Amino acid sequence: MIDFKTKYLGLQLKNPIVPSASPISRSLDGMKQLEDAGASAVVMYSLFEEEILHEGAELDHYLHYGTESNPEALTYMPTAAEYNLEPDKYVELLRKAKESLSIPVIPSLNGITDGGWIKYAKHFEDAGADAIELNVYYIPTDPRLKSDDVEERYIDVLSGVKDTVKIPVAVKLSPFFSSLPNLAGRLVNVGANGLVLFNRFYQPDIDLDQLEVTPGVTLSDSTANRLPMRWIAIFYGKLQVDLAATSGIHTAEDVIKMIMAGADVTMMCSALLQNGIGHVGKVLTDMERWFEGHEYESVTQMKGSMSQRSVADPAAFERANYVKALNRFKMSV
Ligand SMILES: Cc1cc2nc3c(=O)[nH]c(=O)nc-3n(C[C@H](O)[C@H](O)[C@H](O)COP(=O)(O)O)c2cc1C
Repeated sequence: MIDFKTKYLGLQLKNPIVPSASPISRSLDGMKQLEDAGASAVVMYSLFEEEILHEGAELDHYLHYGTESNPEALTYMPTAAEYNLEPDKYVELLRKAKESLSIPVIPSLNGITDGGWIKYAKHFEDAGADAIELNVYYIPTDPRLKSDDVEERYIDVLSGVKDTVKIPVAVKLSPFFSSLPNLAGRLVNVGANGLVLFNRFYQPDIDLDQLEVTPGVTLSDSTANRLPMRWIAIFYGKLQVDLAATSGIHTAEDVIKMIMAGADVTMMCSALLQNGIGHVGKVLTDMERWFEGHEYESVTQMKGSMSQRSVADPAAFERANYVKALNRFKMSV
């Protein structure tokens, strides 16, 4: 019997397959299906700062609307419960998921300021969240903004959440930083319990017929996992933090490579949207076959075995190998 157990954010998980934030977790049924398919934990879709602020603005509007013209107006005010408030719905769904699922549930908060929205982390904790995933999705477009200031945002948001809750907090990052190891180290110093590498930024396209910018969310394939694989291999054993791989995890082989690089868990989104939730079960079965065929007994035994500190040629993850790779490239035409 192969031992797939792994530890992530202080949670004992039965295997390393954790569905990442996606529309599947917008319903209790979706999350139950993920559990039934064999997922070891689930990350919920993100609650966005804008949605929380929108709630505030909406309430503000209703609380003040007409009050100047009619002093009695406040008595007519609808209560918050009468509105379709996304943040409340989110917390309610989390509470229900915690009641009905036996695997850990990790809600996701997405924002860029250290403002009042951070209080939702506490609502998550009170609703029973096992941990929180924090997604700081920021695209700096002002050329006057220095990289230090951008990074400070990440630190401030994380500090705000860490001051608010006791449960573990993971930070989901993009790869676009001048010195990723430095930022990662600073996040660990202010209390990040896990790093989730990497978010795929939404990339708008141009529709040449309509001459419009089109949103279009694209799904990944396995080639997308090269980027997180390299950084997980570099961070493994150097940072005192749990590592989650996201982007391009589609097959058992993808999961195995990430564990060898040093990931504690591997997260799936596109693969489940393309193949259906049952794909989790197929990947687990394929993993079992691979482990048996290659005489591995556990995830623990495999973890980090191909990380930068373990491989014979650590430069393989660095610039030196880029030069070699380019020189060895053979044209096929
Ligand atoms: C349709 C869709 C919705 C997503 N929603 C969220 C979200 O709410 N929060 C978040 O942090 N990531 C979200 N993601 C990103 C995924 O969780 C994942 O990190 C990313 O797609 C890379 O993994 P993949 O290659 O397995 O898709 C979403 C991705 C897709 C395709």
